[in-house]
Amino acid sequence: MRLSVIVLIVFSGAVDASAASSFHDVHYIYGCYEHGEVRVDVVVDDDVAAYADFSKDEVVFALPHVPQSVPDLQKRAYELAKASIAHCHSVLGKARKADPGAPIRQEAPDLSMYTRYEGEDGVVNTLFCLASHFYPPSINFTLTKNGVEVTEGVSNLRYRHNSDGTFHRISTLSFTPREGDVHSCSVEHQALDRPLARSWELKERPSSVSPGSVFFGVSLVLCLMGVGAGVVFFTKQPN
Ligand SMILES: *[C@@H]1O[C@H](CO)[C@@H](O)[C@H](O)[C@H]1NC(C)=O
Repeated sequence: MRLSVIVLIVFSGAVDASAASSFHDVHYIYGCYEHGEVRVDVVVDDDVAAYADFSKDEVVFALPHVPQSVPDLQKRAYELAKASIAHCHSVLGKARKADPGAPIRQEAPDLSMYTRYEGEDGVVNTLFCLASHFYPPSINFTLTKNGVEVTEGVSNLRYRHNSDGTFHRISTLSFTPREGDVHSCSVEHQALDRPLARSWELKERPSSVSPGSVFFGVSLVLCLMGVGAGVVFFTKQPN
């Protein structure tokens, strides 16, 4: 009985995986900003696959392989992106007329810090500082090491849309953790009264008893208790 349940779960997992690989969700997102900027992204399965670079007159693909099945994909995507500029101006014009005094919505960011690999003293790593769910899409990151601003090895990735209209953005730092170093990330955003900060440092060395060996020890004790109970049960049977 238990075996058939396990097989069923594995099977339904496989069906989901094959469905995901043959159907893709592709859509365009374009953002119209009050100061005239227009951003156009092509989103495939929640990832930005391409974006319009109006200064270079082209759509830049962020994925390594451009699908060949659609002829002139890049050219057609750029035409669509250009068409959205006109649409943006018309929508913004209507919005201004409809409610000229409407306050701009603001959402303060959440901030978190994490590393690509588990931190190890002296081993090269990447630190990520993620600001999420903020609006409008303008944010400044400051990364510091022991209170001193770091700029070398820092890169600020592009803004990304969330489905609720807010944005997230990541700042990364290539670094080598050392015991005692404290790295901090702080962001400035117009919805915050003062900068929001998080910090990261190497964790204390784990104690010599690992969770795995505790689990093994507890399992062994339970197993021996089971064997003991069985022995008592069977030796009592003849009575
Ligand atoms: C980010 O920094 C720039 C330059 O210092 C400043 O003009 C801008 O107001 C800052 N933005 C935010 C959201 O604090």
